[in-house]
Amino acid sequence: MKIGVFSDVHGNLEALNAVLGAMEQDGAERIWCLGDIVGYGANPNECAERVRATAEAVVLGNHDAACAGAEPAEHFNPQARDAVQWTSRHLTDASRAWLRELPLTITHGDILLVHASPDDPAGWHYIHPHMKQGDMIQAFAALTVRAAFVGHSHQPLILVHRERQYFRFLGDHLYLEEGGRYLINVGSAGQPRDGNPQAAYALYDTLAGTVTLARVAYDVAAAQRKIREAGLPVALADRLESGN
Ligand SMILES: [Fe+2]
Repeated sequence: MKIGVFSDVHGNLEALNAVLGAMEQDGAERIWCLGDIVGYGANPNECAERVRATAEAVVLGNHDAACAGAEPAEHFNPQARDAVQWTSRHLTDASRAWLRELPLTITHGDILLVHASPDDPAGWHYIHPHMKQGDMIQAFAALTVRAAFVGHSHQPLILVHRERQYFRFLGDHLYLEEGGRYLINVGSAGQPRDGNPQAAYALYDTLAGTVTLARVAYDVAAAQRKIREAGLPVALADRLESGN
């Protein structure tokens, strides 16, 4: 079975629709969402409703928690905080209630779904390309199953723990080997920050035992226009174009 996995939609409906369409074309029969459905973009309710209707499993992101009023947003940067305030004003009661109920982690067999690092999921530690070796080891130590799909950093990344080695897998098509353990960051659908503006997602083929990191183009201009018209910080529109 093929499973489509995505994260960090951040209220970007154009990106969400593109990712869901691409995953369907790729033959995905199930959808997993790794959180940060809202915050930054202009369509938080539409994204929440679409994710709720399509995803088999959804975990909580830090922006979901802040926008739904479950956590303070003091530690967010000014633009993110403005977006949290805008989003919490615009969320419907139904969206807010649904977001507040999302679990921090879900385990499916030998796969963990979590927004940030498996090490203290509520602490929102990043799995990112420049993380310290010690933090990586700690994240793997907290991983009690074979692999975790994560998001949060908005940068796709695959980390491997195998035969006492910890390393970064540099390709975008991974074979899950016997004895290997994996932290797979699927990147961001709605606000990529790796220099590629295309929406990111992953495809997990349970039968083949493979994970593919993929990208799909979407209507960036439409998402930008909505952000500007909504009165959200313009930098949030600008950055979608560069993917940074
Ligand atoms: Fe995020």
